[in-house]
Order: sequence, then structure tokens, then C-alpha cells
Amino acid sequence: MKTVNKLKISGAMVYPLIEGGKGINGTDGKSSGSWAKEGGVGTISMVSPTEISLEGTIIPEIFHEKIREKRHREMVEYAVKGGISQAKIAHDIAGNNGRIHINMLWEMADSEEVITRVLDGAKGLIHGVTCGAGLPYNLGAIASEHQVYYYPIISSARAMSILWKRSFRKYPEFLGGVVYEDPWLAGGHNGLSNAENPLQPERPYERLVELRKILKELGLADLPIIIAGGVWSLSDWQDYIDNPELGNVAFQFGTRPMITKESPISDAWKMLMMKAQKGDVILQKFSPTGFFSSAIKNSFLSNLMRRKKAEIPYSEQKTDELSLLLPISPLKAVYIRPEDKKQVEEQRNLGYSMIKETPDETLVFLTPDEWLEMQKQRAECVGCLSQCQFSSWSRANGSTGKLPDPRTYCIHNTLMNIGHGGDIDKNLAFAGHNVYRFATDPLYRHNHIPSVHELFKAILDGK
Ligand SMILES: Cc1cc2nc3c(=O)[nH]c(=O)nc-3n(C[C@H](O)[C@H](O)[C@H](O)COP(=O)(O)O)c2cc1C
Ligand code: SF4
Repeated sequence: MKTVNKLKISGAMVYPLIEGGKGINGTDGKSSGSWAKEGGVGTISMVSPTEISLEGTIIPEIFHEKIREKRHREMVEYAVKGGISQAKIAHDIAGNNGRIHINMLWEMADSEEVITRVLDGAKGLIHGVTCGAGLPYNLGAIASEHQVYYYPIISSARAMSILWKRSFRKYPEFLGGVVYEDPWLAGGHNGLSNAENPLQPERPYERLVELRKILKELGLADLPIIIAGGVWSLSDWQDYIDNPELGNVAFQFGTRPMITKESPISDAWKMLMMKAQKGDVILQKFSPTGFFSSAIKNSFLSNLMRRKKAEIPYSEQKTDELSLLLPISPLKAVYIRPEDKKQVEEQRNLGYSMIKETPDETLVFLTPDEWLEMQKQRAECVGCLSQCQFSSWSRANGSTGKLPDPRTYCIHNTLMNIGHGGDIDKNLAFAGHNVYRFATDPLYRHNHIPSVHELFKAILDGK
């Protein structure tokens, strides 16, 4: 069994084994510090990180402002303070071992401000920044100014080429590596492009060879490629280690470290993953970011799938096809296809009596309770994303100008809930497509929850 040798990452020789950053509260100072202590790279999530007071108590994210713009500012302040406090915890645990990175979802509103202020406030404690979900053009400038390394997360060689040509070539010194995240296998948001078929996964090997080829053309022949998505055991990746076609590689683990003693998620979420079976993780497009994402099929996801399945087209004007008048509120009626009348009745009989328009000229069906909850969550929006399909908030313009989309959900609300002990069935449970391996992996026999130390050793041993 080939194992991995130490590699220079973010300025130090460390094991090329990386804890993938996970928001909200999927990785924190404790988990990342423990990972770095083993000589790897730990990653603190900067998506609404929890602030821990000097006395060690959690400071909950509670919003007081009435106006969304001001709640948004409250959220940024919480994130900055939380990020700095988690970086201190990570540093204390890691000592001088390994490296500490932070991770940011680029499509968060004001992600640049949060990264900048956390790097300022935690000087010397953070060695690298990874950014996914979107093309982080300004990441190179921010990281270089703070003399920390940066790592874009991409899912195709083309994305790296665009980033380099438009921006990163001006900041080559601190480009620490590139994370290739398999868009068909990874947990969380997935970078599938319009050209790629969600139902036709492509092998990572050829895509990684293509990425290395492009990196060579860009003069980045030795840049580490961090392989993420579906990485469980090094024994599965023997052809990728010490392979001259791929060059320097490291491995990022997202789902597997979620079941460790130091992982901040609830025991209930850990047990949900422990029992997951093959096929339980669904790749779908319900996220209000507009990206694909992968999560466990629970009631939360099943409900969104049901809603989507029952969707029907409508028009405000009568057409040959859409000719049947349907009242959808006391003030409004629209035209639907006569053959969809049966569907409307069926939905009403099942309790889905609220009929709501989507931005794509379709109608979906909700229960009155679901509709009330949706309105509540929109009213409580804190503007977490730069653009949100669920609330139609836009950081730049106030509104996207589109109808709020009832086929999506408030990601801040649900990830905050599940990340802090909330119901694992009624909230979004992101997970990678290999989650089913917990059930048969001997490390977790009899529901054993290993420490990061145990997991790290098992990974190095190819288990
Ligand atoms: C619960 C969960 C939350 C995640 N959140 C983020 C995130 O906020 N930002 C990010 O860049 N990646 C996020 N990821 C992706 C991981 O960092 C990692 O790249 C991915 O999980 C690797 O695939 P794997 O799950 O097959 O190991 C998340 C993954 C999971 C499972
Ligand atoms: S409604 Fe959208 S922008 Fe507002 S908090 Fe929820 S996910 Fe974020």
C-alpha cells in the first residue's frame, strides 16, 4: 500500500491530508485544530462561525434589528468575531503542528469583508484560505495582502484557467494549491456546469490529468492539486499517489471527519450518517444559491422533491394550451392546462391548498403551515447570500427583480438549525455520496465514534 509523503502546504511540510471546511458549524476551531495537531491541514468554516467567549461559552447568533440590511450587518459582525475566536481555539489545540485554513463560500454576501477582517484579527494563526461556490477572483489579492496562501475550489480545469488568466496570475506567490472537487460525489454544494450531466458522473482521473496539463501550460507544474469529493481511504487512490501524470496531490476529506469525537455536529446527525445506505444522498438543485448540492434524503429533501414533482405551468394570459382559469388567491387567477385540473384537485385533497407562483411561470402547492413558515423565514432573512432565489434578496441591488422561488429554502435557517443540534429530519443534511461507507467501515463498528487522532492514523494506514 502506497501512503502519502509530507508535502509543502501553506509554507510548511505537512501530511497532504486536509479536513474539508464545512458550514454551518460542520468544522470549527476544535475539529480543525485537532486535525492540524496530527500534522495535516484543518479547515475552520467561516460561514456563520460560532463565537466562543473568553469564559468558553457559546454566544448565540440572535438578531435584534428590524431591517434586513441592518440584520445583515449584525450577521457579518457575528461572523468576524466567531471566526477570530475559532481561529484562536484551533491554534491553541494545534500548537505548531500542521496548518490551519479557513473556508468561505464565495457566494456569501460580504464574504470578502469577513475573510479580510478575520485574517486581520487572527494574524499569524491562519495559514491559508479556501474558497468555493463561485469564482473567487479577489481571493488572490486578499490572501497576498495578508501573506497567507489561497486555494480556489474548482470542479473543472477550465475554471482554474479562467481564474488564473483574469486574476490569480497577478498573485502567484501565495497560490498554495487548487482543490479539485468532484461535482458528482462531494457533499455540500457541487460545481456542476451546464455542460455536465448530473446523471452521468465522469471519472476524476481524466479530469485531473486535464487539470495538471492546464496547470503546466500556465507555468504551475508543481502546484499541489487537492483531490476532494468521494475521498474515503487512500487504498482507493493508489493510482493517484506518486503518479507523474498528476504530479503533487493532496487529499481532502469532507464527509468522513464528520463522525469524529471533535466534530461539532450533533450525535443525532452522526448517527444518521452512520446508518446511511447507498443511494441515500441526492444530487439536486434546490439550493437558493442556484448551485447543485448533495444531501441525505430526509423529510426536508423529500418535501422539496414532492413540491417540484407536482409543479405545473401557468400563464397570466389565456393561450391555446393554457386555457383553464384557476383562482390562486382571492385577488388573482391564472390560466393552466385543462389536463392539470386533476393535479390541482389531488394536491388540494392532500392538504396542499396554497398555490404559489415560481419565477419560471409555474405553480407549486404548499400546505398552509408550509406557506406560513416560508413567509416567516423570508421576513427574518438576514441577507446571508449575495443573491438568494428563496427571498429574491440581492446584496448589490436590494432585490434580484425576480419572484421569490418557493421551490427553494432559506439555507441560513436550515444549516444553522442542523449545525446546532436541530431536527436532522426536518433540516438539510449535506453529505457526500460515499456516506454509506460508514455503515461497513470497521473503524465505526458498533457505532464507535473515533477521535481525529484515530481517524488520521487509519487514513495514513490506508484504512
Ligand atoms: C455538511 C457539509 C458542509 C459543507 N460545507 C462546505 C462549505 O461551507 N464550503 C465549502 O467550500 N465546502 C463545503 N463542503 C464540502 C467539503 O469541504 C468537501 O470538499 C467535500 O465534502 C468533499 O467531499 P466528500 O464529502 O465526499 O468527502 C461541505 C460538505 C459537507 C458534507
Ligand atoms: S432568505 Fe436567502 S439570503 Fe435570506 S437568510 Fe435565507 S438563504 Fe440567506
